[in-house]
Amino acid sequence: PSLLRSLRSAASHLSRRGYATEPVPERKVAVLGAAGGIGQPLSLLMKLNPLVSSLSLYDIAGTPGVAADVSHINTRSEVVGYQGEEELGKALEGADVVIIPAGVPRKPGMTRDDLFNINAGIVKSLCTAIAKYCPHALVNMISNPVNSTVPIAAEVFKKAGTYDEKRLFGVTTLDVVRAKTFYAGKANVPVAGVNVPVVGGHAGITILPLFSQATPKANLDDDIIKALTKRTQDGGTEVVEAKAGKGSATLSMAYAGALFADACLKGLNGVPDVVECSFVQSTVTELPFFASKVIELPPLHTFQILRLSILWPV
Ligand code: NAI
Repeated sequence: PSLLRSLRSAASHLSRRGYATEPVPERKVAVLGAAGGIGQPLSLLMKLNPLVSSLSLYDIAGTPGVAADVSHINTRSEVVGYQGEEELGKALEGADVVIIPAGVPRKPGMTRDDLFNINAGIVKSLCTAIAKYCPHALVNMISNPVNSTVPIAAEVFKKAGTYDEKRLFGVTTLDVVRAKTFYAGKANVPVAGVNVPVVGGHAGITILPLFSQATPKANLDDDIIKALTKRTQDGGTEVVEAKAGKGSATLSMAYAGALFADACLKGLNGVPDVVECSFVQSTVTELPFFASKVIELPPLHTFQILRLSILWPV
C-alpha cells in the first residue's frame, strides 16, 4: 500500500505539472519590443518554452523578420509578428502574459534615470493598450528605469480602471541571476544550486542582495560580501561599459526575462510554490513599491508577498 500511495502521489504531482494526463493549457505570451537587443533573444527563449502555445511578437519595426525566423523552430507555439501601432491591439488580444522590453537602453555614463523621459512615454502608451486589449494579463516590466516604469504602469491601469496590483511585476530577475553567479564564484559552490534573494529596487544602491540568506551557506568575510554586493549593484554598468556604447545587458536579460515569464506561466497553470523576487506594489516597507520574494497563487493567478520574517535577516 505504501508503494501504491507513493505512485499515486507521484502521478498526481506529475499531472499537476502538466507532464502526464492533463493537457498543457493554451497560453498566449506577447513580447513588446520584440525586435530589440533583449526582445530578439527573449523571443527565441519563449519559443523554446513548451508552456507557450501562442507567441506574439510586437515592435514598431522589424518584427516580421524576427517572427519569420523564430517561427521556423519546431516547438509548440505559433508565432505571429506585429509591426506598428495599428497592429498593437491584435498583438495583445487574449494575451495571458505580456513582457515589455521596449524602450531605449543605457550608454556609458548614463544612469537608468536618464532613460526616464523616453521610456516613460513608451510604457504609458503600451500599458494603455494592455488595459484595453488584455486587462487581465500578467505584465512583466523590463523597460528601465523599472523603479519608475512600474509605478507609471500602475497609474495608467488605475486610470483605465483595470489595475490589479497582483498582476504587475517589475522584472528584477537579472539582479538575482547576477547575485547567484557572483556568489557561487566566491563561495566555490555549484551555481545551479545557489539561491540569493534580492530585494529593494532595480537601480544602483536600491538593489539589495541578501547574501546573509544565500544558500548553500558559506562563511564569507564581510569585505567579500561588500564586494559581492557592489558587483551585483553595478552589474548592469559593468555590461554597459564593456559594450562601450553598443547598449546594455541583452543576452543575460533575455535569460532572466524568460525565467520570470516561465514562473508566471507556471503560476497561471497551477504549479504550486513558484517563488521569485520581483518589484511589486508592497506593504513590506513604507515604500509603495518594493522588490521582494513573491509567490504565485494559483488558481487566482495572482501573487502574494512572502512574509518579511522569511526574507529579512534578524
Ligand atoms: P534596444 O534599443 O535594443 O531595443 C528596444 C526595442 O524597443 C527596439 O526594437 C525598439 O524598436 C522598441 N521600441 C521602441 N519604442 C517602442 C514602442 N513604442 N513599442 C514597441 N517597441 C518599441 O534596447 P534593449 O537593449 O533591448 O533594452 C530595452 C529596455 O530594457 C531598456 O529600457 C533597458 O534599459 C531595459 N533593460 C532592463 C533590464 C532589467 O534588468 N530590467 C536589464 C537590461 C535592460
